[in-house]
Amino acid sequence: MTIRLTTDEFLPLEMHKVRIVQKLNLPPVEERRKNMEEAGYNTFLLQNRDVFLDMLTDSGVNAMSDKQQAAMFIADDAYAGSETFNRLKASLVDVFHKDLYLPAHQGRACENIIASTYCKPGQFTPMNYHFTTTKAHIELNGSKVVELIDERGIEVTSDLPFKGNMDIEKLNDFIEEKGADKIAFVRMEAGTNLIGGQPFSLQNLHDVADICQKKGIKLVLDASLLQDNLHFIKTREKKYKNASIREITAEISSLCDIIYFSARKLGFAKGGGILTNSRKMFNEMRELVTLYEGFLTYGGMSVREMEAIAVGLQETMDEQFVEQGPVFIQYMVDEFVKRGIPVVTPAGGLGVHIDAMQFLDHLPREQYRSGSLAAALYIAGGIRGMERGTMSEDRDEEGNEVLSNMELLRLAVPRRVYTLSQLKYAIDRVCWLYENRKLIGGLRFVEEPSTLRFFFGRLEATSDWPDQLVKKFREDFGDSL
Ligand code: F0G
Repeated sequence: MTIRLTTDEFLPLEMHKVRIVQKLNLPPVEERRKNMEEAGYNTFLLQNRDVFLDMLTDSGVNAMSDKQQAAMFIADDAYAGSETFNRLKASLVDVFHKDLYLPAHQGRACENIIASTYCKPGQFTPMNYHFTTTKAHIELNGSKVVELIDERGIEVTSDLPFKGNMDIEKLNDFIEEKGADKIAFVRMEAGTNLIGGQPFSLQNLHDVADICQKKGIKLVLDASLLQDNLHFIKTREKKYKNASIREITAEISSLCDIIYFSARKLGFAKGGGILTNSRKMFNEMRELVTLYEGFLTYGGMSVREMEAIAVGLQETMDEQFVEQGPVFIQYMVDEFVKRGIPVVTPAGGLGVHIDAMQFLDHLPREQYRSGSLAAALYIAGGIRGMERGTMSEDRDEEGNEVLSNMELLRLAVPRRVYTLSQLKYAIDRVCWLYENRKLIGGLRFVEEPSTLRFFFGRLEATSDWPDQLVKKFREDFGDSL
């Protein structure tokens, strides 16, 4: 939450205390430079022991509560029919009011099941915006992903409160043009990841659901980042100002035919699953769970994690817990804006998204502005962010670069993990890099996989810019780490 100080300023405040700690390591800048080179200038390939602040993702790295840890001790380990499954299902039913639950080991496993069941060649899958694994599964099954986001959603700086909204007119026109029978399903992503963790409004979801109902098309919700979206509906959408997080969740759920989620994000644990009230849809997807995931009462998850999700989901309904991420992210975004650092606005959920397109506008797009900035930030501060730009796109069939709409460096803020002083440190190092941005050069691939190259690809610096950066760091910071 935020609290008012005597100076009338607002301070983001942790509504938890830390009772288990993990020692961190901040290697000297020379070592960081060497580590980055050994990792092929790809932050995915860094070793965690060399990372001070791991802001790569909020996936599977959120902090558990004492109550979650306690619940893990009473997990009922059975292949079939475990009490743990019943407890998890009861918690899901309580939150989402959907009676049928198919467990799966993480979000992309749900995507595999849903896309394999409902996507066919020659079909289309309209959505507000794609996520990498979502698109891969849908296209693997022959359906084409069509993004119908409101165009203003992909403007980097904006004061639009709901940049994740679907363009309703475009959705209507698209269905009219192709015919409802050509639509596999319509997908809405909460807390739209790749455009900066930006929410949709509940009004927009109502409008999408109306169209789907009229045309007899399924509406599928990716609820992985629902937690942040709930906070934004409550704080930015006037109609829901006095509604509780629970009421908002129930209303969202009532509009969707299928809800799937990655519990690596939603529920402060690890796992996932698919929810529906339709026995028909449940039966259509069920066999794939047993084929790819595990029996219907564990779906590839450990029972201990399942207990943690059951409790974590209830914590997600607690407004003070829900707020923690977005409020800290807002603080960082405000500081960046004050200091003239280009960032995605308004602040979203998940993390802070720095606009590398502008930050490194002296670099050619083909030298991966966001990738270079990610490498530079690790060298400057031992901070691991994630490239979300052209490197995250694969080349087209002719081998040409596909330039992404945005070039972002994502600094994820895992929920309940980092303190304000750690975030202040991250802000300081980003600001230092901005002052010295002209020193940052480009990258080129030396090993380039043809799919999902951002995960495994290795690159090199196009000049000796990493050495120049280290030199300047020593000039400015002396022998400080
Ligand atoms: N949907 C969304 C919106 C996601 O952000 C993710 C994962 C998935 C689905 C897939 O879930 O990882 O459990 O298989 N996002 C992670 C990230 C990887 O770092 O943003 P998963």
